[in-house]
Amino acid sequence: MKKSNLLTISFVLMISLIISCSKTDLALPTLNSTVATAPKVVVSPTPMSVIDPYAAIKLSFGTNIDPLNLLNYANQAVPNYINKDNTGNNIITNAKASLGRVLFYDKNLSTTNTISCSSCHKQNFAFSDTSLTSAGVEVGQTVRHSMRLINARFATESKFFWNERATSLEQQTTMPIQDHLEMGFSGVNGRGNMASLLAKLSKINYYNELFKFVYGDTVITEARMQESLAQFVRSIQSFDSKYDVGRVQVRNDNDPFPNFTAIENTGKNLYMTPPVFNTNGIRIAGGLGCNSCHNAPEFDIDPNSRNNGVIGVIGSNDIELNDTRAPSLRDLLKTDGSINSRMMHNGVFNNLAAVLAHYNNIPNNPRNNNLDGKLRINNATQQLNLTTEERDAVIAFMKTLSGTLVYTDKKWATPFINQ
Ligand code: HEC
Ligand code: HEC
Repeated sequence: MKKSNLLTISFVLMISLIISCSKTDLALPTLNSTVATAPKVVVSPTPMSVIDPYAAIKLSFGTNIDPLNLLNYANQAVPNYINKDNTGNNIITNAKASLGRVLFYDKNLSTTNTISCSSCHKQNFAFSDTSLTSAGVEVGQTVRHSMRLINARFATESKFFWNERATSLEQQTTMPIQDHLEMGFSGVNGRGNMASLLAKLSKINYYNELFKFVYGDTVITEARMQESLAQFVRSIQSFDSKYDVGRVQVRNDNDPFPNFTAIENTGKNLYMTPPVFNTNGIRIAGGLGCNSCHNAPEFDIDPNSRNNGVIGVIGSNDIELNDTRAPSLRDLLKTDGSINSRMMHNGVFNNLAAVLAHYNNIPNNPRNNNLDGKLRINNATQQLNLTTEERDAVIAFMKTLSGTLVYTDKKWATPFINQ
């Protein structure tokens, strides 16, 4: 080898050694500062380095969040037959939705640093939870079953939770944080409150960088958290089902879908068509009337719906009459037919046959004074008189409402590289 070549090689080696040393110098203090309580460490720039405004973002999120090249939340394709939208003034931007993604997956949002939104809303299960009740901080357990967060945006209803106690998605997003049983910042029994959380987050370097990037300054407020968390949740959309492949080819839901089997089209008709009852509430003609409350093509709940006769409370003999909301019926199941999670506010059913058995024979509980009028006929309750064939057809149709991308798209996955 020539002497000049050898010289070049050793020069290159030396330079790369210097670069890797200066990288470690930069990395160490910032690594400590991701721990919420650690004091801020001032990084003194070494001669070889330039101050990076996104150094802490890179350290925690690697390339998962690149402020200069954000993933697409704002301009996702929405089929032209989808018209309902509860976005209001909070229009999705890539920057705020990305911040929302970090907040959604950050365990620092709980008092014990053990629970994030994603602990109970898991991407693999359509952002629901496989447990009947979900574990919160300390010994906390939710009192109702977790809800799927699919197409929350594409709905007429703008209130959230099974009993609609959140008047908007924005308001909803910081309620679990302040729930004593969920993320713990309740201000009760010596626990911190929302102000304590805001102070905690403002000591985390990646939030300083993210809020500065998104809002122009490092101030963290509850309103800013609500805005960005709601944008992230609204960005979670699913329109790649067999139903969508068919729906785009026809004028409306009553047309037969060319890509459906005969049974799926029969099931669709049963779903869409209202039943005809005799005076005793027994169905004598028509379909099952599901669409009058779970409206296609969004399959969102009718905002005026009252309860559907499922009034039980988990672990108790009490009843609850105000659970009048359901998430979109899309992605109840995976495309292989397995369920994402139990169904209804009390998780009482774990398969669609059981759901259909309920609607086939709505219990007539005299204490249920909030049963939806469509399910009560005179003094009787709905009896659909379903045949096995009808039941199986409507189940076959409901299976067509499942997509696949929502489980795997990285933009809805954790941004943390160490999770
Ligand atoms: C400890 C488990 C748990 C945690 C943590 C949690 N959730 Fe939930 N979430 C639930 C349960 C259970 C429900 C249904 C509760 C009810 O209706 O009473 C729910 C309901 C919701 C809903 C309503 C969906 C609908 O269609 O009405 C949204 C939105 C939501 N959660 C978002 C979040 C966000 C954002 C966070 C983090 C800030 C979060 N959740 C943290 C368990 C949890
Ligand atoms: C009168 C309105 C109404 C009608 C008609 C109706 N539903 Fe529902 N549905 C609801 C309400 C309200 C809920 C939420 C109930 C709860 O958990 O307390 C619900 C919940 C569900 C759920 C559980 C969703 C989840 O995320 O766990 C499924 C599945 C379902 N309905 C399927 C159907 C089918 C199939 C039909 C037709 C046979 C139908 N529904 C007819 C109002 C209705």
